[in-house]
This record gives sequence, structure tokens and C-alpha cells, in this order.
Amino acid sequence: MTSPSGVPRFPDSFVWGAATSAFQIEGSLDADGAGPSDWSRFAAEPGRIRNGSTADPGCDHYRRWREDVDLLDWMGVNAYRLSLAWSRIQPQGTGAPNPRGLDFYSRLVDALLERGIEPFVTLHHWDLPAPLADAGGWRNATLPGRFADYARIVFRALGDRVTWWSTINEPWVIAYAGWIGGVHPPALREPASYPWVAHHLSLAHGEAVRAFRAEREGRIGPVVNIEPKYPASDSPEDVAATARVDATMNRLFLDPMLLGRYPRILRETYPGGWPDFPAAELETIRAPVDFVAVNYYTRAVVRADPAGLVGEAAVPVEGAAHTDMGWEIFPEGLTRTLEDLTARYGRVPLYITENGAALREPESLNGNGLEDPERIAYLRSHLGAIRRAMDHGADVRGYFVWSLLDNFEWALGTEKRFGLVHVDFTTGRRTPKASARFYRDVIGRTTD
Ligand code: FCB
Repeated sequence: MTSPSGVPRFPDSFVWGAATSAFQIEGSLDADGAGPSDWSRFAAEPGRIRNGSTADPGCDHYRRWREDVDLLDWMGVNAYRLSLAWSRIQPQGTGAPNPRGLDFYSRLVDALLERGIEPFVTLHHWDLPAPLADAGGWRNATLPGRFADYARIVFRALGDRVTWWSTINEPWVIAYAGWIGGVHPPALREPASYPWVAHHLSLAHGEAVRAFRAEREGRIGPVVNIEPKYPASDSPEDVAATARVDATMNRLFLDPMLLGRYPRILRETYPGGWPDFPAAELETIRAPVDFVAVNYYTRAVVRADPAGLVGEAAVPVEGAAHTDMGWEIFPEGLTRTLEDLTARYGRVPLYITENGAALREPESLNGNGLEDPERIAYLRSHLGAIRRAMDHGADVRGYFVWSLLDNFEWALGTEKRFGLVHVDFTTGRRTPKASARFYRDVIGRTTD
């Protein structure tokens, strides 16, 4: 059941990892001088989180991190993707660093390196210090500068040991879910703010990349979620709506970061208009990066519909298999994503920094841990999809499963289980699932 057979071979230098993020696993939200974040406040508001789940203690990683490093070591990964909580490091979002917050990450980085596990550190994975959120969050033009200040503190504290950095996780989700969808903080529905929020996120990325070059040697890049868009029919209306929504999501960050401009179709069709941002800012956004990190889960099928933000609607795919998130399982979309990125932006090094499946799982554990053959099938098919893209010329260097642990899935709470390792949220007990053993075998195999 857990045999890696069916997974193609990858180069010896391939990076094999698992991913988490600070707010989703740490708990102990106000420990050691940490300040509140927009997410800690949002999660405490009644009715915001499905089933009233809480992020504290959540997986309790802040206290159990040694156990989690042991799990990574057992799994045989050579890399671990984590994020830092800005509000542990600058409790007010500005000003002097909190040494106790930095110490936590410093110890974790040392423990990973001792086991030969390379930390891939994401500076910001959505949990914004509350005072910055109160000042208008990413709509506020001072945020990019604040972010660069924070990044500089981190590079100085950890950059002697951490080589691999990414700036902001999935800026599209921050901008869309927070400012249009209204389901993440600040829970607004303001399409007119969207271009500004997106622009400030990109500028923050660019300023942090520049700060990095001034401080350290190493590798840095953005992390974007790509959801390839397929027209529901070949009617000109559906095809045009698909191109618009593709620009609004998939090209919104990478075009300015890698090409130095916003997609023209966005400037022509975004409702209310797309601001003319200064050329000097676009130059900052285009600061050269070392790689692009891609999070991939699913695709979208699109038809024209005047009710949508850019005149689009997503069409459910009847008869297809879906995960517990309601996301269609579509590995071909990952091949296409990697090929499209290579065609559009050139042969840039690519890392898949998230890919995985939430599955409904029985709460009871048997002697062997949980059996999760659907997750194994998901991982196997997506690894095959990556290999195909590589055979067609995409320069993919690594893969991280989302997630190491069952964790706090944002507004959906702890019900959505993405982990290779099961977490009992009452006791904190961790139990590797069959998929963890499968992944261990894939990483560790010497022959096939
Ligand atoms: C991504 C997020 C990650 C997790 C997965 C399921 O959008 O980056 O934190 O929630 O989805």
C-alpha cells in the first residue's frame, strides 16, 4: 500500500520537503512577548471560524516543535518549509525586535540543520501584526516599507544559517479573500481596493528582495498559488472571461515581478479601472529573484457571467473526484501550470511549495496509524504530473507536501485535515498516516 511504485524517478539533487505555516500550527499565540495579529483577533471573533475551532493551542507546535523536527527527520525530508510570525518578532509590527520571538525560530533552525534538513523560510504567511492591520493593512502604502524593515531584522538574525527564503505566501489569497471575498481579515468586499492591496504586496516583496541582496547571500523568491483556468466552452465569451480571470489571479503578481508590468487585459477590463502605478515602483517589484515557488491544488473551469468580478463564474465539474475542500483533483493542471510558467517567464527554477489533499478521516486510530489511500493516490498522481512537466522542459527543483501536520485551515478550522501526520487536537498526539510512510519510501528509495 505504501510502496512508492508508480512514482517516477527525480534527480538526486531534488528537494523533498513538507510545509506548514506559523499561525496554522504554533498555538501559544501570546507567548514570550508576541503581539496580536489580524488572524489571532479574527479567529477569536464568534462565527468567523467553522465549528468554532481555535488556533490556540491548535497543533501546539510552539511547545512541541522538537517532536515535529523528529517527525521530519523520520520522514527523511531534506527540506522543511515554515513561516515566521511577524508579531512574535515585532509585536507592534514596527520597532525593535523581540529577542524571545527570534530565539524560538533560531532554535528551530539550528535543530533542523543538525538533522540535515534545510529550512525554507517564508517571511509572511498571512498573520499580520494587529497594529498594522488597524492602520489599514495592505491597503496602506507604508506597509511595503514596514515589511522590508521586518525582513531586514530577520535576515540579520537568521540569514547566517538560512539560505532559502520566500517573501509573501500567496498574495492573491490575501488580496482576494480579505478584500473581495470577505472571508479572511479584514473581511471586506471592496473591489476598488484590490489593485492597491495587490500592488502593495508586490512592492513589499520587491523591497524585501532588495533588502536581502544588501544583507545576505542566498536564494529568495515569491510564493504564488496558481489555479489554471480552462474555458467551459470554446465560445468567444467563455474564452475571454477565462483570460480575464487568469490575469486577475495567476498573472497578477508574476507579471509585475518577472516582466515589470501588469497584464494589459487587467488594465483594459478591471471594473472601475486599474491604477497607473509609478514606473519606479514597478522597477522595485521586478527586483531579480532566484526562483518562483508555486502552490498548486486544483484548476478552475470558467464561463462568462456578468455577475462575476471580471464577468466570470466558476463551473462545477460533474463526475470529477474532489477533496474535502471541494477542490477538483486535477493533476494535469499542474503539468500545464509548470509548462505555462516556463513558456511565459522563461526557464526559471521552480519549487512546488504546497500540494496536497484534505480528506475526511475517521477520528479513531488503528494500530498502524490512519490509512489514507486517497492522499497517497493524490501525491502519486501529482508527482507524475511534475515529472512530465520536467520532461517537457520545466526546471522544477523541489516539492513540498502540504502539510506535515493536520492543522488550522484558516476560516475552515481544524476540520479540514491535510496532514501526512494525524493530530489529535485534544491531546496534541501525532500519528503518521500511511501517506507519511509512503512519502518516506518515495524519498528514501534507492532503486525502483
Ligand atoms: C493555501 C495556503 C495554506 C493552506 C493551503 C490548504 O492556500 O497557503 O496555508 O491553507 O492553502
